[in-house]
Amino acid sequence: MDYKQLKNEFQTPFYIYNFDFIKKRFLSLKEAFKARKSQIFYALKANSNLSLLQMLVKLDSGFDCVSIGEIRRALKAGAKPYKIIFSGVGKTKEELKLALEYDILYINLESEAEMILLESVAKKLNLKARISIRVNPNVDAKTHPYISTGLNENKFGVETQIARKMYLYAKNSAFLEPVGVHFHIGSQLLELSPIYEAAGIVAKLVRELKALQIELKFFDIGGGLGVAYEKTDTEPKLYEYAQGILKHLNGLDLTIGMEPGRYLVAKSGEFVCSVLYEKTNKDKRFIIVDGAMNDFIRPSLYEAYHEIILPYNKGEESECDVVGGICESGDFFARKRFLPKSKGGDIMVIKNAGAYGFSMSSNYNSRNRACELALEEGQIRLIRQRESFEEQIALEEKFLKA
Ligand code: LLP
Repeated sequence: MDYKQLKNEFQTPFYIYNFDFIKKRFLSLKEAFKARKSQIFYALKANSNLSLLQMLVKLDSGFDCVSIGEIRRALKAGAKPYKIIFSGVGKTKEELKLALEYDILYINLESEAEMILLESVAKKLNLKARISIRVNPNVDAKTHPYISTGLNENKFGVETQIARKMYLYAKNSAFLEPVGVHFHIGSQLLELSPIYEAAGIVAKLVRELKALQIELKFFDIGGGLGVAYEKTDTEPKLYEYAQGILKHLNGLDLTIGMEPGRYLVAKSGEFVCSVLYEKTNKDKRFIIVDGAMNDFIRPSLYEAYHEIILPYNKGEESECDVVGGICESGDFFARKRFLPKSKGGDIMVIKNAGAYGFSMSSNYNSRNRACELALEEGQIRLIRQRESFEEQIALEEKFLKA
């Protein structure tokens, strides 16, 4: 990639995503489940750029949304409502109402209270809400605690017993129609046996429900597939993933719903910035760059490892911290990393930044958000322009006193 030319044209920092890579991953995931009916519902939270969503619509992707904003993004990108599902532990009444009005495929419920609220909203609209229930199977996903969601101590989903009770209630309600079951036990899973265990627990529930004449159509296995961020990481094999789940579903006629986020986009993306300064404090070497934790927060928030290169710098490498300019010691992209000597203006690339990068960015320190580019079929194009100062302050400026 000619980063220098891109820097000339777009300045730094910017994100760039390889759409062809995302397409390839999408199709191979779909292929792994070809023994069954399946639907991928891409988890927008990983990267919700409209052009990316539009590309996925063309591949016939569905979308897993966790806010009305995400639903509206998916619709804006051309998704059909029947390809959209709505998840999340804290949906508001207004969001539930809009989701019903849009007539999306189903709503993943995460508590009894939410079900009762949804029923009352559906009743007012005089329609039947298609629901799925997120089961918390109480298995340990063995990932970073902030992104582990499948234990009773986590806020997500309901225990199997409660789920059973909720299905029975929904079956007898004139305004609820149970169509699916859902689980998602955590993110960045490189070891998949906890997912298989969860699938077994949830499949057992599906069989029990069948005996009670509650026939579900969708078996929604969530997301969570991990990617290799470090050289020592091994990515799960898609075929084994599919088999590990499908083996629990013999004799059941279910469509497999998947909600991958990271797996599809993480490795497609790079965050490209420029070196501002190098300095040493006593013996400690720092490279200070023009991107910061407001642009890309994964290293600060999860101490996540991301490969970093200085593509045009050669020479001996020495230990350094790569940091942004924000007024916090937590503002770093890497600690104790070996990199060659650099100087102001040199280009730095942070790899594997396509998931939970831009989507988690903010204006902290009143910094404008970076721009985003796409590489597709050999062409590079802008898919979100760099935010301007005027845009950043637009919602406050009008309240200034004369
Ligand atoms: N479905 C549900 C219900 C989820 O909560 C999530 C992610 C996904 C699907 C997609 O998971 P994935 O396939 O991407 O693992 N910001 C964190 C990750 C948070 C994940 C939250 N839920 C990070 O940067 O690692």
